[in-house]
This record gives sequence, C-alpha cells and structure tokens, in this order.
Amino acid sequence: MTSRDKTSPTSDPRKRRSRGEVRKKTGQTATLRPAFPSPQRGGQSGALAQSPSLPMTPTSFQSERVPAGWQHRHLLDLERLTGDEIRLLLDTAALFKEATDHCRRKLTVLTGSTVVNLFFENSTRTRTSFSLAARRLGADVIDFSASTSSLSKGESFIDTARNLEAMGIDAVVVRHSTPGTPHLLAQHLDVGVINAGDGPHEHPTQGLLDIFSIRERLGDLTGVTVGLVGDIAHSRTARSNLWGLLKLGAKVILCGPPTLVSQRWRELGVEVSHDLDAIVPRCDVLNLLRIQFERQNTRPFPSVREYAHLYAMTSDRLTRAKPDLLILAPGPINRGVEMTAEVADCRQSLILDQVTNGLAVRMGVLWLTCGPREPAAARVHVPPVSDARTRG
Ligand code: CP
Repeated sequence: MTSRDKTSPTSDPRKRRSRGEVRKKTGQTATLRPAFPSPQRGGQSGALAQSPSLPMTPTSFQSERVPAGWQHRHLLDLERLTGDEIRLLLDTAALFKEATDHCRRKLTVLTGSTVVNLFFENSTRTRTSFSLAARRLGADVIDFSASTSSLSKGESFIDTARNLEAMGIDAVVVRHSTPGTPHLLAQHLDVGVINAGDGPHEHPTQGLLDIFSIRERLGDLTGVTVGLVGDIAHSRTARSNLWGLLKLGAKVILCGPPTLVSQRWRELGVEVSHDLDAIVPRCDVLNLLRIQFERQNTRPFPSVREYAHLYAMTSDRLTRAKPDLLILAPGPINRGVEMTAEVADCRQSLILDQVTNGLAVRMGVLWLTCGPREPAAARVHVPPVSDARTRG
C-alpha cells in the first residue's frame, strides 16, 4: 500500500466514491487495468510495456486522485502537451474502457459533478460521446442550446459561460468556429475547459481517439507511418493528430492537393506529398479527412469528382497498400469522396472503433480535468493561440 492509499476519507462525495474497484451490476467487482496489445505490428493481444510515470495499475486509481503526471485544469490542445502527458491521457482512457466493459457500463467516479456541453457548431459524435462519457462516470450533463439561450438578447459569450459556472458546474466542453475560443474561456473560468473543436485550429479529443485506436492495434507508435490525407489546411483533426503523433514518435505524411496542403508544413518535421499513389505503399495507417467546404471561401479544386479521382482511397489503391494498412476517418465521412464505400466498410477500417474509443478517451479526459486532485494543481496562465498555428 502506498502513502496515497492511506488518504483519509473526506467529506467530498467524489473522493469517497471513486474507488479503483468498481461494482458491476452483477455484484462482482472490476478493476481498472490497461488493455493495450503487444507492440509488435498487427498484434492483437499482450501487454504494452509500462512507463513508470503512467497510471498503469489499479492501485494508482485507488488513490482517488488525478495522477500527479497530469497538472492541467483544461484540455485545450495537444500542441502544448508533452509526450508523457499524451501517453497518460491514452492510458487513462484504456483504464476506463476496460473498467466500463468497452464503454458500456456505468461507474460512479464523478458522481456529484456536472458537465456542460457548449456547442456552437453542429456535432453528432463529439457532443453525444461527451454526454455519454460524463454519464458513464456518474456526472450530470447539461446540453446548452445557443439558439434558445439569452445570447440572442445580447448577453456576451463570456458572461454566458460565467453564469453557467455560477451554477456550480465542474467542466465546460466547448465547440466553436473561432480558433482560440476554449483558450479564451479558460482565461475567464475556474472550472475545467475542454476543447471539442475550435474552428480549424485543434480537436484534441479527436486526435487522442485516433491515436488511441492506432495504438490499440499497433502498440508503440515509434516509427509507425501515418498518412493524413485530404483538407489539411482547414482540418483541426489534422493538427491534433500531427502534434500527438509526432510527440509519440510516429512518422507523419500530409497528403492532398497543393491548394490544401502547403509545403510549409515540412518545417514541423512532417513529409508533404501531393501524390496519394506514391505514399499508399509506405503507410501503416491512413487517416482520411473530410473536405471542409464550410470553412473554404473558394473551391480548392475544379470538381469533387477530380478530387476523388486523385485522393479518394479505393479498393484498387488498397491492393497496392500493406496488407494490414489501417483505415481511419474522423467522421462524418462522405462515401465516394474521401473513400469508396468498400474501403469505408473493409476489414481494416477502424471508423466505428474510433467512435467507441471516443467514449473511452472522453471518460479519461473528464476524469483528469474534473477528478479530485492535489491542491498544487492550481489555475495556470493560458497564453492565446498563435495565428500561425491556424493557417494552412
Ligand atoms: N469527428 C467529429 O468531430 O464528429 P462530429 O462533428 O459529429 O462531432
């Protein structure tokens, strides 16, 4: 037993309830253990080597506190996280995936907490899975509706958020078309702020769930070649993947038309290609990104048909890929544009696994941002987003 295990019970109901052992409906108990496969390529079983800084054992969860390796109040982007912090997020997600029987069962570790979804852009996956993830951990969820709120009476965005905070909430999950909106909120709120997508800047939980899905299949990402294909210029998913993958040692290739993939990305240590056929045979993973027409002022190619001819993943291109090439897509997907229907539904496609893993990742993120922590993890200054990071 560690000194942390001897922590006295407190009056905080979350601290009393958050045990490393969770009670199943059957009355059995389940422990929070990681479930990563062997680091061998294509491995489906075995245990990934443990890092000493990570919460890989049930004991660390029984300490009832967020691990000391996580010192952030918010999750704003992956650019400013270290590789160890990203691994800790992924490992925490794995613990929750197993403890909730593949994200289906409920825990009580955040009972008494309230999470507010503050979405100013449409969403199917992110909004629903944040709501479900919070409920799976026992938290209450409020789905804020901007269109029926008092924003229409002239109340400012910050005043709205501060009023919600005054109701005793614990975290805000925010999606907004303006880059840096979550960072702005974090400067004004004391509760946790989680970025659910800020314009073309970042979508950190999407990056994490993509990387989680790759790691679940391939283990350690060192040396794994990941192609991000499509509208890199307007893709927040591309940016979050890029930062996360690079920090975990993967090789990243950005691929798409020159109007959507600038050669300047090479300055960040990635390869840039405009030729999908040339990169397909070298990739272990392809992440096929949607063309973000809603963020474009002018059409970046003559026709969707021409784009699909050059950049859609097809069964024919699959025949020239490695046999175990993994196909990812953040969704929503447009069959016939980023990929054909056959590719979307092929045996290597992880598209629906990604959605399930999104629940695990969001449970991990909510726990790390809302869970009980040592007093030292105080509010930190959040610098604004650099313009350079939001340009294609
Ligand atoms: N991938 C993603 O963010 O999907 P939604 O827009 O449906 O949330």
